[in-house]
Amino acid sequence: MIENKAINRNTYDQVMLPIYAPANFIPVRGQGSRLWDQQGKEYVDFAGGIAVLALGHCHPVLVNTLKQQSEKLWHISNIFTNEPALTLAQKLIDATFAQKVFFANSGAEANEAAFKLARRYAITRHHPTKTRIIAFHQAFHGRTFFTVSVGGQPKYAEGFGPNPADIVHVPFNDLDAVRAVIDDRTCAVVLEPIQGEGGVTPATMEFLHGVRELCDKHQALLIFDEVQSGVGRTGKLYAYQHYGVQPDILTTAKALGGGFPISAMLTTDAIAAAMETGAHGTTYGGNPLACTVGCVALDIINTPEVLMGVEKRHDMVIQALEKIDQKYGIFQEFRGKGLLIGAVLKAEYQGKAKEILQQAAEQGLILLSAGDSILRFTPSLIISEDEITEGMMRLDMAISRWLNK
Ligand SMILES: Cc1ncc(COP(=O)(O)O)c(C=O)c1O
Repeated sequence: MIENKAINRNTYDQVMLPIYAPANFIPVRGQGSRLWDQQGKEYVDFAGGIAVLALGHCHPVLVNTLKQQSEKLWHISNIFTNEPALTLAQKLIDATFAQKVFFANSGAEANEAAFKLARRYAITRHHPTKTRIIAFHQAFHGRTFFTVSVGGQPKYAEGFGPNPADIVHVPFNDLDAVRAVIDDRTCAVVLEPIQGEGGVTPATMEFLHGVRELCDKHQALLIFDEVQSGVGRTGKLYAYQHYGVQPDILTTAKALGGGFPISAMLTTDAIAAAMETGAHGTTYGGNPLACTVGCVALDIINTPEVLMGVEKRHDMVIQALEKIDQKYGIFQEFRGKGLLIGAVLKAEYQGKAKEILQQAAEQGLILLSAGDSILRFTPSLIISEDEITEGMMRLDMAISRWLNK
């Protein structure tokens, strides 16, 4: 029995499918933007569970909500509806362009639903051959077979046999490239308003407006994957709200449950009407536990205090990074919006992001990368000024040690 053995990082290699390369320490406790590992070492957390923990670890209001709901109703299945799911759906509708909601459990599942809906809508409302999906190089949409195929990093989709068909990829932020491939057989254009995993690259204003116009011209749906950029991460509830460009379908996950797994696909009445009973589904999607926590997380995040605080924290992070760069000169660019920030390493440090992450962890700082050459910052939206300052001091130390190694 595994309970009788000491659990350590080696246990991972013995018992887990070898698809991840987790850090060599095991976190056991978190509070706000601090984490502790098995040895009691403390870390400042600038990763937030990869843009999930918008309110930090174990936010007391979320913990209480979860406890209370856990004594009432955990799961009921889609044979019934439930009050928390209906309440959360209404909140999302009130806060966005949407009129209909589908709940799932992960970003990939929300995207899978979005792509199926787009195909179904185009086939039933237009023509059976209107099935082409236009997507972008470096895009990331999840790990189901459809979502890795729409994603723009071929390595994730290779080696699993024949891929879903009729998907084309073009360079991000290149309107001419979209113009060259879009036609009346296009069913949807899919994009992240700010590419996250692919390098923290915001769409330009001109690009998003141009893509919207091209979609309208060719009666193609515009799908925004806001799994990473959504739920306050950029300082608005959804990133599309900075651009004034409305999608037809939007997917949201990660921060939606503040760390409890839940995702949603949002769309309009007219598009939702392409689906009928039995056309799609999930056992756990919209369960009362996740939706109750989602309601409370959304209520806290979708307030001027939290959203305006994101901008302030963005400025603090950028200023601290600029100071570090004045000392060490290792960055060529800072980009992103709100608390989705990428620090791009200079040409001579290409491929070195992982080494800096390891050194940061040694100094007690949890950071992310986006690709091999970009440090990525996705802390809690309510991280304190002291924690930002402390984390940046640790980053400074890590870079200094790393450069002198
Ligand atoms: C933009 C985007 N879409 C989809 C996903 C997949 O979400 P999940 O891992 O919850 O399936 C991610 C995860 O990083 C993401 O960043």
